[in-house]
Amino acid sequence: MNPEIQTFTDPQAWRHSAADLIYRRIGDAVAVRGRAALALAGGRTPQPLYEHLGRNPYTNTIPWSAVHLFWGDERCVPVTDPDSNYGMARRTFLDALTLTVGNLHPVPVQPGKERETAELYEADLRRFFTQEAPKAEGPLASFPRFDLILLGLGPDGHTASLFPGDAALAERKRWVAWVPEAPLPPRVPRITLTLPVINRARTVLFLVSGKDKKVIIEKVRADGDNPDSLYPAARIRPEGELIWMVLS
Ligand code: 6PG
Repeated sequence: MNPEIQTFTDPQAWRHSAADLIYRRIGDAVAVRGRAALALAGGRTPQPLYEHLGRNPYTNTIPWSAVHLFWGDERCVPVTDPDSNYGMARRTFLDALTLTVGNLHPVPVQPGKERETAELYEADLRRFFTQEAPKAEGPLASFPRFDLILLGLGPDGHTASLFPGDAALAERKRWVAWVPEAPLPPRVPRITLTLPVINRARTVLFLVSGKDKKVIIEKVRADGDNPDSLYPAARIRPEGELIWMVLS
C-alpha cells in the first residue's frame, strides 16, 4: 500500500490530526475486537501529541479501559531517567489518565541485562496477542498485529531502535530485539520491536517534525520501494496503512 503523506505548517493541526487518527483507529479496533493494541514511539517528536492526548476531549472520548499500550522501543535506563520513553509518556499524558494497570505494557528494563529484558518483553507480547483468534495468513502470520504503531524518524533514517546495518534490523524471527549500544544519542542499550512486527501492523503512523528532518524524509521516501534500503524507515511497509504526518 502506498504511503499517505500529510504535511503541516501548523503545530496544532499536526498534533490534532495525529490524535484524531489515533482516536479513530482505537474506535475501529474496540468495535471489532473489544480492545486496541498500540505501540508508542519515544524521543522528542511525539511529546506534543501525548500532551494533547492527555487533555479533553481525548481523556473522555477514547475508551482507555480497552486500550493496551506498548512501546515500539525503549532505552535501557530507569523509568526516572529523562531518556526513558516510558517515563516520558507517563509525564506527558499517562499520569493524567485513569488507566487499568494491566493495560500498560512498558518494556521491563533491567539495565545491563538487555537480552533478558527483550525476552521478558516478548513474553508479555506473546501473552497478550496469543489470546487473539489465530486466523492469520501470509508471510507475517506468526507475528503480532498491532492496531497502530507510532514511529519517529532519526537523522540516519532509523526508526524505533532499528538502526542502519544493525543486527536488530535483520532480525526476522524474534518479535523483540536488543541493541547493545545505540549509534546515536542516547548511546545506551536499546530494546526494539522488530521489522516483521512493525510491518504486520494495521496502521503505522510516522510522526515527524523539524526542518532538520527534511533531507532524511526525502531520502527515505525516495527509497521506499527498496526492501533492502540503507534507511530502516524505508523498509517500513505495513500490511495495513502507512501514514506520514510531517510538520515542517
Ligand atoms: C527513540 C525513538 C526513535 C525516535 C527517533 C526520532 O527511542 O529514540 O523511538 O526512533 O523516534 O530517534 O527522535 P526525535 O523525535 O527525538 O527526533
